[in-house]
Amino acid sequence: MAFATRHFVRTAASSSSSAAATAAAKKLVVKHVTVIGGGLMGAGIAQVAAASGHTVVLVDQSDEILKKSTKGIEESLKRVTKKKFAEKPEAGAEFIEKTLKNLSTSTDAVAVVHSTDLVIEAIVENQEIKNELFKRLDKFAPEHTIFASNTSSLQITQLANSTTRQDRFGGLHFFNPVPMMKLVEVIKTPMTSQKTFESLVDFSKAVGKSPVSCKDTPGFIVNRLLVPYMMEAVRLFERGDASKEDIDVAMKLGAGYPMGPFELLDYVGLDTSKYIIDGWHSLEPNNPLFAPSPLLNKLVQEKKLGKKTGEGFYKYK
Ligand code: NAI
Repeated sequence: MAFATRHFVRTAASSSSSAAATAAAKKLVVKHVTVIGGGLMGAGIAQVAAASGHTVVLVDQSDEILKKSTKGIEESLKRVTKKKFAEKPEAGAEFIEKTLKNLSTSTDAVAVVHSTDLVIEAIVENQEIKNELFKRLDKFAPEHTIFASNTSSLQITQLANSTTRQDRFGGLHFFNPVPMMKLVEVIKTPMTSQKTFESLVDFSKAVGKSPVSCKDTPGFIVNRLLVPYMMEAVRLFERGDASKEDIDVAMKLGAGYPMGPFELLDYVGLDTSKYIIDGWHSLEPNNPLFAPSPLLNKLVQEKKLGKKTGEGFYKYK
């Protein structure tokens, strides 16, 4: 695995319009990426960035965690390669080798951000911890470096305000599992510059994803629709209007969804869903879409968090 120096490349202007040419000339082409947090999401983001030719440093708190992340990436790459290069195993092996060469790891974020174009944060979903990280990195990252958060439920604006680079700060919301899911939501706060926004869109395309854009609103697009839908399913069940099994069958066969809302809640994790809805409820206490659910709260209190604990709305043992 190699750690290459950064390349800060400005794109050549191709448009004849001088305004467009100026904007394009200033756009940052991301070559070197630092991903902070080597968990479920960070490892996936590091994988797709490295696989698409970016040099990537993946940062986490200990070598032990990073070893696990790297092993997960290697296994995921093997799975991707098996499908993508089914007829050409040698090309597949070369792809894995090249990808891993682009990837290195570190436990010291401050030491590696001095040479990065883009920092993507994918650490624990906690406002204070994220703010503290961004504030620290802001002092050490170069002027041109863009900061992005993969947060699902926190406000990008609040995270940006912990730095002095609010214009070079946006949201890059990937989906789980990152190597499989095509979508990235690119979040533009009122302070995000157009240039930064375009660099984030270009980066999302460069890693093989389809970006959509959204303002810094709770849940962005997907979770804003999905979480209230799942909560409404819980309320339907709580009122005794239908069984959870029937609700799941109904949404699969009637709406063509691959999973029913209770299966999805168990997959996502009931604690995660509760955390999101509680956060939104505190922002907008009168919004009925964000009302907490006594049943969800009870299950979380009983540590029935879904698939990961063996029981949520369903049992998995
Ligand atoms: P995770 O718990 O799997 O991974 C978080 C990692 O961050 C852990 O390895 C932890 O050691 C590390 N970490 C914590 N504090 C750190 C620090 N100060 N410096 C360096 N590393 C640190 O979490 P996951 O699921 O990967 O989520 C990460 C972020 O992505 C969260 O903000 C979450 O809301 C968001 N997200 C999660 C999705 C999901 O389906 N799990 C989907 C989309 C976004």
